[in-house]
Parts: sequence; structure tokens; C-alpha cells
Amino acid sequence: MAFRDDFIWGAAAASYQIEGNTQGVDGCAESVWDMCSRRNGFVKGTNTGFMACDHYHRYEEDVKIMQSIALQAYRLSIMWPRVMPEGTGKVNTQGLDFYDRLVDELLAKGISPWVTLFHWDYPMALFHKGGWLNDDSSDWFAEYTKVIVDRLSDRVENWFTLNEQACFIGLGHQTGVHAPGLELPVKEVNRAWHNALLAHGKAVQVIRSHSKRPAKVGAAPCFRTAVPMTNSPEDVAAAKAHTFNVINKEMFNASWWMDPAFNGEYPEDGLALFGADAPVVKPGDMETICQPLDFVGFNVYQSEMVRATADGKPEVAYPNNYPKTHFDWPITPEALKWGTEFLYERYHKPIIVTENGLSTNDWVSLDGKVHDTTRIDFLHRYLLGLKEASANGVDIMGYFQWSILDNFEWAEGYKQRFGLVHVDYETMKRTPKESALWYKSVIESNGASLGEASALQGWMKPSDFNRNTC
Ligand code: FCB
Repeated sequence: MAFRDDFIWGAAAASYQIEGNTQGVDGCAESVWDMCSRRNGFVKGTNTGFMACDHYHRYEEDVKIMQSIALQAYRLSIMWPRVMPEGTGKVNTQGLDFYDRLVDELLAKGISPWVTLFHWDYPMALFHKGGWLNDDSSDWFAEYTKVIVDRLSDRVENWFTLNEQACFIGLGHQTGVHAPGLELPVKEVNRAWHNALLAHGKAVQVIRSHSKRPAKVGAAPCFRTAVPMTNSPEDVAAAKAHTFNVINKEMFNASWWMDPAFNGEYPEDGLALFGADAPVVKPGDMETICQPLDFVGFNVYQSEMVRATADGKPEVAYPNNYPKTHFDWPITPEALKWGTEFLYERYHKPIIVTENGLSTNDWVSLDGKVHDTTRIDFLHRYLLGLKEASANGVDIMGYFQWSILDNFEWAEGYKQRFGLVHVDYETMKRTPKESALWYKSVIESNGASLGEASALQGWMKPSDFNRNTC
């Protein structure tokens, strides 16, 4: 079997990256990304997300484009301070109305809305109170979740709580390259980490207890993934260990998020590594965090290549002169095959790829078209990897391409174009790229147009990977 008959083909975007109109428009308050947009040098090219793609005013046109490329589902997120300017308490109905209109528009065009509650635009008002470091922060998130669920759950059935906790805590509170730009000691990072996990758990409870329709819930985490250098059992075991071992004090260790959420415990090796800096777990916390989930979301762009040393330990082999995207991310399509297989084996849940794509250096050609052939090849290869995993029996529910539109790529500003649709940021003109048409044919054939998964073999050549070059 290739892709299941009810496979969901979609694309994704996030509120802050496309909506714009953050500066008081219709009562929208600022988020930590607005604060960092103002900070000199934080975002490349002194770009801000204040206007982004003006999706807030152009959503009808955007949904029409989604329909024209046969999208079945669209993963959107809600801007918390647009809906609750203070983060808690008073609701800004004008802000909430926008998501109402968007959901209605999607449904009218036959596109199913998959809603992410938090994709990084944290309210400034709550940041002033300590943000994720404040032990009340999970209750704030639960309160916000209830507002959204009360309003949208008569039409929305599929929810994601948090997008990429590893990024908004790890990059936002530890390395400081994402908002709010903090570089905290590990103990404080883990405190924020634990509060965010509690927020996830409480949000799941709120969705389940308040949804007007039977709801399906997951999250969209990201983490380090690994592809084995060869198919030998030793290399496969090493790649798996590299994926799930807590190997450092950064937040990209898969099990540091997944084990609490799916199994109700922090992994032993992580607790040992963090020692006194590990999260303080109060009675009942792990029960709150570990809520039944319907699927595992998986955001994946790139992988490391791992082999086993003579004594069976994982060893990363770094690529030398290897094909890379415009972001300089190595092109590793087998990530979708191995990543999903490893996840399924460990957590036994259906998997939905919540983000996958690449940035390319696109422009509108003289013929008025955008010839992004590298995007087509990239997606083709990654989807073959996914097809292979599916054929091997991994339960894969669907795939969301990142992203429907070129957009504000966080600290990179507008430098990285990830869209199926080109956006001219001067005129806001949208131009579907060649890849959008190509993706349409994939959707319409339920992946049959991709051809045989075996075509992928031989792409990641072990000879491209050397031990000490990067
Ligand atoms: C992910 C983010 C998403 C986008 C892509 C390229 O880490 O979730 O918003 O920036 O990377």
C-alpha cells in the first residue's frame, strides 16, 4: 500500500509569519516577536513581522489559491495577543472574528482547518509577568485555549497545542536567537520547558472537555532526527539511539518532549544529564502532561547521518560538499522514512507530518512564472521517503507542506522563501509557483504521481559524509 485512502494532503503557515497587522489593528496587541522585530539586528535586514503577507486582509484570496491547488487541509495558527491582548481576561472580539471568518472561508472551499493554538507569538503582557518561567503560565494558556475552543470547535475538529517547543523554549530562552531572545541558565530553561509541557497537557484537557464536536488532538514538536548510514542493523540501531538519547543540554532531544507527553515521564538519561538542573516535578504534574493524544505531529526538514562505531555507539558523519537548501540545510529525504518509522515504533501513534519544505531563491521570471524546480525535486524526494515508510506499515495520516506562502521566516526575516506561492512584499501580489501546480497533481493522484519509492535509493551516499568535515 502507498498512502492510505483517507490520507490528508495539506499545507501550513503560522499567524505571525503571514497575518501582519499586529500594531494595534482591530485591537491586536504585541507579541514577543513584535518586541524582537524592533530590536536592532535581531531579525535580518531589520525586517519586522508587522505587515508580513497581510493575510489578515487577504485571507479570501489566499484560501482561493489553496482551493486552486486542491488542498484538502490547511494548518493555521492563532495569534494569542490578537484574541486576548492582555493574554488572559478580556477577549478582543474583533480579533477572534478574524479566525471565525477564516475558518468559514476554508470550510466553504472544502478545506479542513487544522488549528495550532500556539506558534510562538506570545503576548507581551504575559512576558512582562515572566512568561513561561511563571508557574501560572500553563493556566494562562488553558484559559486562552478555552476561548478559542468555545468559539471554533463547532467547526474545527483537529487541534495542535504547541508548535515546536524545542524552538520557542530552546531558541527563545536558551540560545536567544528567537523571541523573546533570552539566554538563561539550563535550570531556568527547564523550568520554562516544564511549564510549557504543563500548558500542553492542560490545553488537551480543555479541548476534550469543551469541544462541541469530537476533537482530535496532537502537538507539532520538532527534534533532532537521524538517518542510518547503511541499512545494517548496527547503523539503524545507532540512528535510533541518536534520535532518542538525550545527548546534550539543548532542547532538541526527541524524548525530552515526547516521553513526558506520551509516556508520562522524563527519560532517565536526561534526568541524569541535567541533574540538579532538571525540571522540578510536582505531584500530579506528569499526569497533567501525559494526556491521551490522537496522533504524533512531526515537523521535519533535515536529518543527521549516523553510523555505528566498532563498539556500537552512534557517530554523526557530517556531509562534505552536500546539496543544501537556500537556508544551508542539508537535503535528507530519508528523514521522512526513518524519522516516521522510529517515532511509530516508540510511541505507537498515527503520525502526521505537520511541516516539511525548503527555502529557495525564487523570483518571478519574465514569463510571469516562478520556476522553482528545486522545490519540486526536494518535495518529490521527501514524499518518496514518506511513501516508503507508509508502504512499510507506518501509520501515516497526512502531510502538511511548509508553507503555503512565502513569509516572515523569524530571525531570517524575508530572506528565506518557503512558499508554494511567491509573495511580492512591495505589492503583496501572490504568484503560485510551479511547485504548487506539481503538488496539486500529487494531491489529486493521492501520491501515485510520485512514482515508486525505490527511486529514492542512493540519494544520501555514504561517501558524501565524512567524520570531521562540516
Ligand atoms: C519551523 C517553524 C516554522 C518555519 C519553518 C521553516 O521550525 O515551525 O514556523 O519557520 O521552521
